[in-house]
Amino acid sequence: MFGRSGGRCCNVVCCFCIFYNTIFCSVLALLIFVFIFNPQEPKFTITDAALTRFNFTNDNNTLHYNLALNITIRNPNRRVGIYYRRIQVIANYRKKRFAMVTLPSAPFYQGHKNATILNHVLVEGQQLVVFGERDLSQLNSEAAAGLYSIDLKLALRVRARYGKLKSPNYKPYYKIDCSLKVPFSSNETSPIAFKATQCWNVYLFSNPGD
Ligand SMILES: *[C@@H]1O[C@H](CO)[C@@H](O)[C@H](O)[C@H]1NC(C)=O
Ligand SMILES: *[C@@H]1O[C@H](CO)[C@@H](O)[C@H](O)[C@H]1NC(C)=O
Ligand SMILES: *[C@@H]1O[C@H](CO)[C@@H](O)[C@H](O)[C@H]1NC(C)=O
Ligand SMILES: *[C@@H]1O[C@H](CO)[C@@H](O)[C@H](O)[C@H]1NC(C)=O
Ligand SMILES: *[C@@H]1O[C@H](CO)[C@@H](O)[C@H](O)[C@H]1NC(C)=O
Repeated sequence: MFGRSGGRCCNVVCCFCIFYNTIFCSVLALLIFVFIFNPQEPKFTITDAALTRFNFTNDNNTLHYNLALNITIRNPNRRVGIYYRRIQVIANYRKKRFAMVTLPSAPFYQGHKNATILNHVLVEGQQLVVFGERDLSQLNSEAAAGLYSIDLKLALRVRARYGKLKSPNYKPYYKIDCSLKVPFSSNETSPIAFKATQCWNVYLFSNPGD
């Protein structure tokens, strides 16, 4: 009877040890991982943007648009590579979505400390949008100025490569924001120059959840 209960006691102590060892090892492994790889978020910059069409027809609530973008994505990591499985560009005017395109250049792999230049990304077509009075008055004043406030969202599916190890797919991430002031020009050479704009809300690796 004593023997049995002593044994159980010992087992409990062992379980305790194993439990703590496991936690200790996991934490240590995580620390080593972070120390070695130290994953940093990639940087997204819209290096150029031009609107050659942005016409809203009131009768049928149709927006005709033609937006060209040059996008640069830079991977600042020395030891982490990034697979871009899918990249989508969503374009909004006054929080109203008018376009979504999936870039044909993805999927692609981006190596360490490398930059990928995606030029001539075309966002064009027509879309039914409902603009309120304030939206229209901003549209009119921006049309007069020849400079439009267009907000992009980039929606991404990525996975990472740590050394030889590929991570599983990260959760799709939809929140990268780029607030642009895009010059209009009917003939590609706008009198106003576009200012390169860096996007924000990039949390691919440290996704704080939706
Ligand atoms: C993008 O880059 C190309 C050169 O690679 C350039 O011809 C073009 O004007 C740039 N801008 C836009 C909006 O496409
Ligand atoms: C709208 O359309 C008219 C005629 O089709 C054109 O002259 C004008 O440049 C267009 N404006 C914009 C902002 O696209
Ligand atoms: C909306 O109206 C404009 C101008 O009348 C026309 O060019 C365009 O094709 C129309 N769009 C649709 C979807 O009917
Ligand atoms: C970036 O990747 C491309 C394509 O894999 C490669 O040709 C280029 O040399 C790389 N650049 C750097 C700086 O590693
Ligand atoms: C384009 O527009 C600019 C100013 O709006 C003008 O100076 C230039 O001559 C135009 N170019 C062409 C090829 O029409």
